[in-house]
Amino acid sequence: MLQTKLRGRYKIIRDLGKGGFSETYLANDMDLPGNPHCVVKLLKPIFTDPESLEIAARLFEREAQVLYKVGTHDQIPRLLAHFEENQQFYLVQEYIPGTLLSKELTKGQKWSDEQAINFLKDLLQILEFVHAEQVIHRDVKPANLIRRASDNKITLIDFGAVKKITAVMETSQGITVIGTPGYTPVEQRDGNPKFSSDIYAVGMTCIQGLTGINPDTLQKKPEVAWNKQDVNPQLAAIIDKMVCRDYRRRYQSVPEVLQALSKLEQPTLIETLWKTKKKVASVSVIGILIIAVATIPLTHQIIPDFISISQLFPINFSVYENSDYAIKIKYPQNWVKNEVEDKTTGELARFSPYDRNNSDVGAEIILEIQPLKRPLVLSEYTNLKVNEIIQFFPEAKIHESHTVKLPNIPTLVHEVVYSGKDNKLGIKRKAVWTVKDKTAYIITYSAQESEYDKYLNTATKMINSLELL
Ligand SMILES: Nc1ncnc2c1ncn2[C@@H]1O[C@H](COP(=O)(O)OP(=O)(O)OP(=O)(O)O)[C@@H](O)[C@H]1O
Ligand SMILES: [Mg+2]
Repeated sequence: MLQTKLRGRYKIIRDLGKGGFSETYLANDMDLPGNPHCVVKLLKPIFTDPESLEIAARLFEREAQVLYKVGTHDQIPRLLAHFEENQQFYLVQEYIPGTLLSKELTKGQKWSDEQAINFLKDLLQILEFVHAEQVIHRDVKPANLIRRASDNKITLIDFGAVKKITAVMETSQGITVIGTPGYTPVEQRDGNPKFSSDIYAVGMTCIQGLTGINPDTLQKKPEVAWNKQDVNPQLAAIIDKMVCRDYRRRYQSVPEVLQALSKLEQPTLIETLWKTKKKVASVSVIGILIIAVATIPLTHQIIPDFISISQLFPINFSVYENSDYAIKIKYPQNWVKNEVEDKTTGELARFSPYDRNNSDVGAEIILEIQPLKRPLVLSEYTNLKVNEIIQFFPEAKIHESHTVKLPNIPTLVHEVVYSGKDNKLGIKRKAVWTVKDKTAYIITYSAQESEYDKYLNTATKMINSLELL
C-alpha cells in the first residue's frame, strides 16, 4: 500500500493504524499546492458477496454524508473525499497534527480538576454539535481523541457508525456492536445506543484522565467504582451521573451536562456544597448511644426505640450569635459548636452532638449565608437550591419541599427534606432557607439516614430558634 497513489491523487506515505476491519494511512494530496498531508482510511467489508457489498456501498454513501456534515465542526476532521475502488471503500480526511489522548494518558500524569473540566467542556461542545445532527459517535475513547498541536484543543475522530459498513450482517440479529470495552455502556453493548451512550464514554474517559486508570479494569456494578478521593465532589457527582449504569438515570443530553459544569464556576456555590458534603457523616452513632446508656440510672436502661436521646434529658440551650451577619440561633449546651466563619464559602458555624476531634460527624447542623449577585425572591432562590441538590447530591431524592413559618422570622421560609448518598452511605437532610435583601440564610440538619429521627427533635428546635436581627 505504501507509495500507492489512490485515484492518482492521494499518495500513501505511512501507516497510522490498523483496526479490525480498517486500515488508516497518512498520505499526501498530490493535487494541491505543497502536497499537504491527509488521512486515508480504507474500510474492508467482512463479507464480499455481491448482496453484502451492495448494502455496504449504500451504508458507505450514507455515512459519508454524515461525516461530511459533522466534519464542518472545527474540532472534527473534514471529509475531503470518499470513493470505492476495487470493492474497497476509502475515506479521505483532513490530517490533524497533535497527540492522541491515549498517549497523553499513558505518561502516568493525572489531570487536575481544572484540566478535567476543560476537557469535558471541550469535548462535550463537539458532541453537542454531533448529536444535533442526530449522530451518535459510539466510540469515544482516548484513542479516538487527538489533542491538536496548534491550540491544545480536543478533536474527535473515528466515527463508529462508519464501522457499520464493514460489519454488515456481522451478527445474526443484524445488530452491529460498536465500541470499546471499558468505555461502552450496557445499552450500547446490547445494540441499543443512545445519545447518552456517548455521555457515558466521555465520563469514562474523564475518569481515566483523573485517576490514570484504564476503565476496562474498573468495577461497573452496581455503578462505576472509581477513586474520587482527590476530586472535587461536585465534579465527581457530575461524572457519576454521566456514567450511571442505567441510561435513564444519566444526563439525557449534552447541554444538561454542560449546564451542570457551568455551575461549577460559581465558587461560592461549589465550595459551600463541597464542604457540606465533606463534613457529613460516616461513623454511626452507636458508640455515643452506648456511652449515653451507660450513664443513665439502671431503671432507664431499657430505652424504647422511638424515644430519642434528646428526649431522655432536658435540653439546656446556649445562644450562638453572629453580629456581622445579624443572625442568632440556639443550640444544645452539650453539643459541640464549631465556628468556622469562612468568607469564601459562607459557612458560619456547625453544631454537632459529637466531639469532632474524636469521630467523623454523624449528625450536625450547618449554618450558612450566601451572598446573592442580585436580590432574589424566595421561590427563585428555592429553584436554584433544589436544582443544586438534585444535580450535586448523588441519588438525591426530595421528600418534602414547601414554605413554612418559623416563630422568629416574619417572612415565610422554605423547607426541603431530602436524602441521597455520600460514599454509599444514606444521608438525610432537612434544609431551611430564607432570603433577605441580597443574602440567603441556610440552616441544614444533616444525618445518616438511620440516625436522622434521633436528632430531628433537637434540630427542629434549633431551626425554630433562628432569628435574623
Ligand atoms: N484525522 C486524523 N488526523 C490525524 N491522525 C489521525 C486522523 N485520523 C486517524 N488518525 C490516526 O490514525 C489512527 C487510527 O485511526 P482511526 O481511529 O480512525 O481508526 P482505527 O481505530 O485504527 O480503526 P477502527 O475504525 O477499525 O477502530 C488514530 O489512532 C490516529 O493516530
Ligand atoms: Mg480509532
